[in-house]
Amino acid sequence: MKFTILTIFPEMFAPLQESILKRAQDANLIQIKLVNFRDYAESKHKNVDDIPYGGGMGMVLKPEPIHRAVRDSQREDQRQRIILLSPQGRVFDQRTASRLAAYEELVFICGHYEGFDERIRVLADEEVSIGDFVLTGGEIAAMAIVDAVSRLIPGVLGKESSSEEDSHSGGLLEYPQYTRPPDFEGMKVPEVLLSGHHKKIQEWRRKESLRRTFLRRPELLDEAQLQTGDWELFEELVLEYPELASYRSKWEHLKPRSAKIRKKKDS
Ligand SMILES: C[S@@+](CC[C@H](N)C(=O)[O-])C[C@H]1O[C@@H](n2cnc3c(N)ncnc32)[C@H](O)[C@@H]1O
Repeated sequence: MKFTILTIFPEMFAPLQESILKRAQDANLIQIKLVNFRDYAESKHKNVDDIPYGGGMGMVLKPEPIHRAVRDSQREDQRQRIILLSPQGRVFDQRTASRLAAYEELVFICGHYEGFDERIRVLADEEVSIGDFVLTGGEIAAMAIVDAVSRLIPGVLGKESSSEEDSHSGGLLEYPQYTRPPDFEGMKVPEVLLSGHHKKIQEWRRKESLRRTFLRRPELLDEAQLQTGDWELFEELVLEYPELASYRSKWEHLKPRSAKIRKKKDS
């Protein structure tokens, strides 16, 4: 996977040279190319910004250098995606990360200052925001996306399954994780995790994942990829949190046939 980042502050990308992303680059699993679009400015002083027409505060990135820089990176095929970073774009999430991970190359255009000339928008295949807040530039947003997409590239995390259990990958938050010691200042690791009983551990994790999602981000349950065994876990959780019963209709399809028949007979 190749990431090409168009920016006027390439020095800001030092964090991509550390840890897992550094190893991924050393192993040639990902490549990160930084392009300073100031190099594409034609004026004597290499200006890339100018005052906005109509007046107003701040400076606006000019269209010419960015158009030239993008043209230089553009490929004729569908395996490249050009992304404009903007607080006006669609908000990035794990699903977008998975979708973008399928491309061979992502090209990011980082805005800065007050933003960019409107005519830069035509270059982009899509506009992406990393949240409903405003950053000083697209650089940190680009780094966040490069990081999230990279860890989905096979081999980057070392063990491929590591990202599959993460929060958001199946639409749920991840279950609680523990490591040694088994008792830290009276806070004990749940017994089941020490039991070595694989099936019970899986069930516990799934239930805690459902619980966490319900307690912290209940709106995620609307889109979550639920599984057959979730019905029983859901019924157990309803006993603890009666409010959860309002989700019953959405989960009804997970109910095993035998339970449905039993309910009919009971009524
Ligand atoms: C100060 S912002 C400009 C905001 C612009 N005036 C507006 O209101 O839409 C400068 C640049 O930072 C980047 N940026 C700011 N917030 C962002 C966000 N939430 N997601 C992605 N990029 C963002 C964009 O590239 C933007 O052009």
